[in-house]
Amino acid sequence: MTTGSLLAVDLVIAVLAAAAWLGGGAASAARRRPLALGLAAFALLATLARAFTIIALARAGWWFAGEKVLIAAPLSLAAVVVAGPRLLRAPGDIRSVAVPLLFAGYAQSGALLVTLLYGYPASAGVGLLAVAGVVAATALSWRVLGARPSRMVSRAALVVAVAALLTGTGLAVAPGAASGVPHDHDYPLARTADEPTRRFALTAGTATVSVSGRDVEAWAFNAQVPGPELTATAGDVLEVTLRNRDIARGVTLHWHGYDVPNSQDGVPGVTQAAVLPGQEFVYRFRADQVGTYWYHTHAVSDVGVRMGLYGVLVVRPAPVTGVDVTVPVHTLSGLPLPEPKVEPVEADVPVRLRLINTDSTTHRYALAGTPFRVAAIDGYDLQGPAPLVDTAVLIPAGGRYDLVFTAPPTPVALFVDGRAVYSTGPVSAATGAWPVLDPLTYGVGSPVPWSRVDRTFTLVLDRGLDLHGLLPRYAHTVNGAADPDIPSQVVRLGDIVKFTIVNRSQIVHPWHLHGHHVLVLSRNGEPATGSPLWLDSFDVRPGDVWEVAFRADNPGTWANHCHNLAHADAGMTLHLMYS
Ligand code: C2O
Ligand code: CU
Repeated sequence: MTTGSLLAVDLVIAVLAAAAWLGGGAASAARRRPLALGLAAFALLATLARAFTIIALARAGWWFAGEKVLIAAPLSLAAVVVAGPRLLRAPGDIRSVAVPLLFAGYAQSGALLVTLLYGYPASAGVGLLAVAGVVAATALSWRVLGARPSRMVSRAALVVAVAALLTGTGLAVAPGAASGVPHDHDYPLARTADEPTRRFALTAGTATVSVSGRDVEAWAFNAQVPGPELTATAGDVLEVTLRNRDIARGVTLHWHGYDVPNSQDGVPGVTQAAVLPGQEFVYRFRADQVGTYWYHTHAVSDVGVRMGLYGVLVVRPAPVTGVDVTVPVHTLSGLPLPEPKVEPVEADVPVRLRLINTDSTTHRYALAGTPFRVAAIDGYDLQGPAPLVDTAVLIPAGGRYDLVFTAPPTPVALFVDGRAVYSTGPVSAATGAWPVLDPLTYGVGSPVPWSRVDRTFTLVLDRGLDLHGLLPRYAHTVNGAADPDIPSQVVRLGDIVKFTIVNRSQIVHPWHLHGHHVLVLSRNGEPATGSPLWLDSFDVRPGDVWEVAFRADNPGTWANHCHNLAHADAGMTLHLMYS
């Protein structure tokens, strides 16, 4: 079983156990003897079963199991010890076991809440809060059910609950590490001094665009979605003037995957101020990375990109020979883009399809009718990519794959999630059952270019309650904290930096570091054996552990975030800083 499914199974068992204990308690309070005994027996089994899931998770990595071992397991043990023997004695008046059963239910629910609301890393404060909650709820039930605990017992319960509550709150709200993210301060405009050789102007504004014959309200660059395709030849100096006509919440341009100087990175509040209506900002950088990239607004990026503020950036090594098409996939108002394009191509012509996923979730691409190779991922050429037939690729949010083939005499079609998007003629193919390419084992490997690691950081991705803002929110968290409270990762110029990225949540997190490409070292303990993979966007699936590394060679303050932009806006953003 994968760690992802193990996490899900453990969660389901925990929910069932908590519900069955509570249900059993309620049933016995109502003197429904068979129901009470049935539920309690089920709860007991479920609680014991968690011993296996928790141990299996701990073996997969402490990140997945920390709070379960330290908080859920002792609470479960207490539940079994308190409720179990009383049940076995199966008293004549079933009502007399109501409180022990309810206690077990509160213990399981408390542990579950710790996992759902708090997660990793477990802390003494949270453990004590859970204990306080369990003791208080049990004492209350005791009262309500009219059972008469001895004075000593109820006093003791009160003392334990209050002490746990006070200590727990104290520990839980004690200030953590200061965040130290510089916001809204001036960065020197470290521009490329050279004269621009390619100039573009992008004006952001609200617009009505037509998609599949329907009018859609969008936010667009130059009134089109996607915005104009920006192309350059390696060595060009690009100058892009961004103007904002009427996007009230502001816009910027972020060059996704393009490792520009920090001042050109387009992150509002970090590298520049958002460009408000009537304002402009000029970006300039040298196009020294060839490949497939894209640009998008980084101001309220979740809304802005979804509404249409994105476009393609392609830098080619030399003038194009053959057919070279970009396929930026997006969902605008629920409608898929681009609209299908049919374009006959003569046999023997080389074709490059540049696939770009500009949505916040993974898409599945399948090229039917020809063998093909994946020539590049995230703008970086792969080494020794073998030809593939009837194989699908999964592209994470923000990611790009370049597929190349020589046009056969018969038609070829590219399907995205089963929909033909680009074809050279009619093709009918059922691509849904095709195997998916694993890029970690594709192509020819090379040794890792560094023999040392200067800094390591672990990022544990999860969900959790964030009480630090104006309103409490159920945030997407990194190491238990949400933006802007996640400590920055501080590195020095020249450091070899390693990230271990762990997903203990139930959803995919497409990870994206600005300003650098990272080299994939391993996934779930399996070293990457294929072509070196230099990525800027990769899907960390539930239960995944990725190890990636990079050389800190681009000074500045860089966003490091989940590219499911709703997650990024809901807390899952931190920063890499150079000291
Ligand atoms: Cu494509 Cu910070 O984003
Ligand atoms: Cu995410």
